[in-house]
Amino acid sequence: MQRTELEEAARTILLGNLRRGVADWNGKEFNFVCPSLTGYPFQWFWDSCFHAIALLHLDQEQAKAEMRTLMSGALPDGFIPHIIFWEMEKQPDFLSRNIVGRTSEFYSATMQPPIIAYTVERIYQATGDEEFRAAALPVLTAFYRWLRLNRDPDNDGLIAVIQPEEAGTDCSPKYDEALGLEELSNQGFIAALSKVYAAYEPMRGDDRRILAADIFHFEDVLVNSIYAMGLRSLARLLAGSDEAAEFEREADKTRDALLSKCWDEEAGAFFDLSGVAETPVKVVSISSLMPLILDDLPRPIVERLVDKWVTSPDHFWTPYPLPSVPASDPKFMPGNPRGFIWRGPSWINTNWFLSHALRRHGYAELADTIVSKSQECIAKSGFREYYHPYTAEGLGARDFGWSSLILDM
Ligand code: GLC
Repeated sequence: MQRTELEEAARTILLGNLRRGVADWNGKEFNFVCPSLTGYPFQWFWDSCFHAIALLHLDQEQAKAEMRTLMSGALPDGFIPHIIFWEMEKQPDFLSRNIVGRTSEFYSATMQPPIIAYTVERIYQATGDEEFRAAALPVLTAFYRWLRLNRDPDNDGLIAVIQPEEAGTDCSPKYDEALGLEELSNQGFIAALSKVYAAYEPMRGDDRRILAADIFHFEDVLVNSIYAMGLRSLARLLAGSDEAAEFEREADKTRDALLSKCWDEEAGAFFDLSGVAETPVKVVSISSLMPLILDDLPRPIVERLVDKWVTSPDHFWTPYPLPSVPASDPKFMPGNPRGFIWRGPSWINTNWFLSHALRRHGYAELADTIVSKSQECIAKSGFREYYHPYTAEGLGARDFGWSSLILDM
């Protein structure tokens, strides 16, 4: 596929998934791209950030609109929800197929990986729009402070998620044990998750209480790698102000905690910590590689991750890398997961993160291969939600927004 062809195809998806209007429930204008018109007709937090990054290559004003709409969903305490139901009339069908933790019918009470400051930084770098930056800064500082205050009760620099969907990698096998999954299927996942939802019901909205209850408490490596990356972007966006140092310090703290608490020297991988007791969850998944997105990851760790995991055909180096779970895991499910997602197929967003990360660490050839394989998946199967790591067969939602990240790879 030529660059122009790819751009036209991505434009068709992104503009096709555009939602514009005024919300009945708060009178605010919305203007954003939904992940998929059929499966995901609302605004999702990290999807929206990915859409904005792809849009930078097509329509910078639309990229700003995407982020302005997301930021307009921030609550007075700084929290930004993982789903905003701008068009309520689309809810019945969606809710019959999904469960969402809520304190309001209009948005979720849960978060998603905090890639927002990085996204705003990219928009600012591309456009130089000072007004956009100035309007974004109070929202961003409030949101990252909210995360620190409400999601890091032990103050170690690692924020915790209260449900797997908050990490964006919903059914990853790394959560099986903490969830007490009895049946390895999407129904099994929903059944286990429903118990968490029921336990949270009386405390929904009080995240500190929820974390103290220790029902599902995950210091997730993917979330914290993205958190550290976001904090660095925020510090740069704040350059010259007193607040910059605060977020720089926080980013250092998160990086140091990832190294001291999540890195397992013997296994050569990063592991999440489960529960208030911080028990390492010794399951390798795409998340175990995510600290590569930190530019200051020590070189020996970078090399170990690349040599042991990324480039090994036994683990992540499948014909269409990088699978969400290594091929060596007995739970690896490369084919159609029937909703039981993040257990094998390759996703474009993690390829976007990791191809840039590898390039920055000096692995240009590896990065190029990941990019060209991702492009092959799209050329062969269109913009799908995820792809079969052996055949490039497209799986999950069709016309899926964030696969347009290929434009930024
Ligand atoms: C699925 C994914 C999540 C994504 C959402 C919308 O739930 O696991 O990461 O944000 O779909 O695309």
